[in-house]
Formats: sequence, C-alpha cells, structure tokens
Amino acid sequence: MQVGLIGGTGPAGRALAARLASVGVDVIMGSRSAERAHEIVDELLGKWPDHQLRCVGAANERAVNAEIVVLATPWESAPAMAASLAEHLAGKVVISMANALIKVGDELQPLVLARGSVAAEVQASAPRAMVAAAFQHLPSRHLGDIAHPIESDVLICSDHPPATKAVADLIRQIPGLRPIDAGTLAAAAPVEAFTAVLASVNIRYRARSAVRLTGIE
Ligand SMILES: NC(=O)c1ccc[n+]([C@@H]2O[C@H](COP(=O)([O-])OP(=O)(O)OC[C@H]3O[C@@H](n4cnc5c(N)ncnc54)[C@H](OP(=O)(O)O)[C@@H]3O)[C@@H](O)[C@H]2O)c1
Repeated sequence: MQVGLIGGTGPAGRALAARLASVGVDVIMGSRSAERAHEIVDELLGKWPDHQLRCVGAANERAVNAEIVVLATPWESAPAMAASLAEHLAGKVVISMANALIKVGDELQPLVLARGSVAAEVQASAPRAMVAAAFQHLPSRHLGDIAHPIESDVLICSDHPPATKAVADLIRQIPGLRPIDAGTLAAAAPVEAFTAVLASVNIRYRARSAVRLTGIE
C-alpha cells in the first residue's frame, strides 16, 4: 500500500507519514517544493533511526500517484489544491483531514463553510475523486510519536463506499486505531467541528482526549 501526502511537510503530514510508515505503509511526502520534502523526510528518518520507515519526499504532483492520497494542507488551501490536482485525483481515494477552525482568544472555534465541511468543499473541487473525511481528531503530537501506541476511533465520512472501505483498511493497520463508518460527507461538518471540542477539553483538563465510541461490537 502506498499513500501520498499533499502538503505532507507540516506537523499533521509528518505525523501521519511516520505512523503509517511505522506499520509498513510506503509513504510519499509531498510538498510544493520537492527539495523541502526531501529535507523533511531526512529529518523524519533521522528522528526515528531504529525504525525502517519507508518514506520518500517528492513534489505534490508526484505524491498524487500513490494509491491513496491525503490532503494535509491548511484547510483554507485544501479545496484549491484539490482543484489544481483534480485530473490526477480522478478515481482515487482522497482523504481530507482538515478542520476549519479559527483561534479566538485562547479558544479554537469551528467555522461554518458554504458546503458544510472542508471535505465537502474538496469533493466539489475534485468531483471525480472519492473523498473521505478522516483523521481530524488525532493531534499530530500523539500521532507522530511512534514510540508510543495511539488509542482512538477514527470517524470516516464519504459518499463513496469503496473509499470508506479503503480508508478503514488503512486505519486498521495501525494498532490502537479503530475505523468507524460515520456516514456520508453530510456528517463531515460535525466531525470536523468536534475537533474544537476536543481541543477545548484538552486545554481545560490538561488532557490528551481522543474519540472512543461505546456500544459498537
Ligand atoms: N496539526 C494537527 O495536529 C492536525 C490534526 C488533525 C488534522 N489537522 C489538519 O491537517 C492539516 C494540516 O495541518 P498542519 O498543522 O500540518 O498544517 P500546516 O503546517 O499549516 O500546513 C501543512 C503544509 O501545507 C503546505 N501549505 C501551506 N500553505 C499552503 C498553501 N497556501 N497552499 C498549498 N500548500 C500549503 C505546506 O507544505 P509545503 O510548503 O511543503 O508545500 C505545509 O507544510 C490542516 O488542514 C489541519 O486542520 C491537523
């Protein structure tokens, strides 16, 4: 399995790259600058010398060749990035992990977007891609710390059942993570917005809260 990360050089992309590569997934870390991608990959490999991480750096235009593509840019640029790569993304599973949040004082607050969620905006920007919202609730600090297991449910929203299945299969490879089919992209808005709730809880309780749904066999 090969996963390409668009904008993979940020904290979220680096964390996901490390965690996926730690379980044997081949990762292409994409960037607007291939040189920057190489530098960040070198940093990542240097940070985890005892792990055989299979991760390479490349321009975003190359990272889209992977079987599954993750959009890991800031939420504001995710739809435009999806539009610019739309031809390459046609028929592919594309994971949108963005949260449309703004900082107001000490608090992160969710924004209401025209289509409800970043994932829905991305789907509209790349209509022939199979977009799935996932990974919104995993903070990069914990996701990227591959010396420790991570415990969480990962909610997946997509209008394309094959995308939900492919993303669930990917998530199942990571010990401690449980994929949950949370419905269509209509549910992505509350999923993305809930990240603000988790952030607020973490600040108030000095915690590392994560989502775990009960009552599911
Ligand atoms: N950080 C977290 O804990 C976390 C957790 C869950 C989900 N998320 C979501 O994951 C996404 C990435 O988060 P992040 O904190 O890693 O973001 P970030 O550091 O702000 O951006 C990630 C990368 O996107 C690229 N980028 C920046 N501005 C861009 C633009 N205008 N157009 C195209 N590419 C641009 C940059 O890569 P290059 O300069 O190398 O191209 C940058 O390294 C966000 O949407 C966030 O909501 C974050």
